[in-house]
Amino acid sequence: METQTYTTKSEDETIELGRKFAENLKKGDVVLFYGDIGVGKTEFIKGICKYFNVEEIVTSPTFTIINQYNGTKDGENIAIYHIDLYRVKEKKELLEIGFEECLYSADAIKLVEWAENSFEIVKFVNYRISIKADFENVNERLIEIASEN
Ligand SMILES: Nc1ncnc2c1ncn2[C@@H]1O[C@H](COP(=O)(O)OP(=O)(O)O)[C@@H](O)[C@H]1O
Ligand SMILES: [Mg+2]
Repeated sequence: METQTYTTKSEDETIELGRKFAENLKKGDVVLFYGDIGVGKTEFIKGICKYFNVEEIVTSPTFTIINQYNGTKDGENIAIYHIDLYRVKEKKELLEIGFEECLYSADAIKLVEWAENSFEIVKFVNYRISIKADFENVNERLIEIASEN
């Protein structure tokens, strides 16, 4: 496992970091995001989606739990699943919405916010990204990217 740490000073810098990070992603990858509400998980994901030329609006899929975007890279289609487990209370809910099947789809990139609530369903992980806010500097974020490849 290899861990890299970054500090961003604005929303735009976090989006740019997400865009850079996306260069490494390939079909089938699973990325888990950790960190409190409002810390910037969705902003980072916006950057990933920018890299994959996603035209849909990227927002936390809080009510639907899973959003699907149509990404492309080098003219090839890549589906992106954006999953937000913030409201998940029990494992049963995850099984009912097909979270497991979604994780196993080899053609898609899977981005999971609130991975703390995944009830250990996720068996294969490529990256874990944890974001922390800095209470003294409101727009500063500490972003740790751990690669399990
Ligand atoms: N350095 C930063 N990186 C990311 N977001 C930031 C930063 N500084 C301030 N923000 C603000 O924090 C909020 C992050 O929101 P969001 O990405 O939806 O959080 P989460 O998905 O983790 O709940 C946005 O309102 C954004 O403008
Ligand atoms: Mg979010």
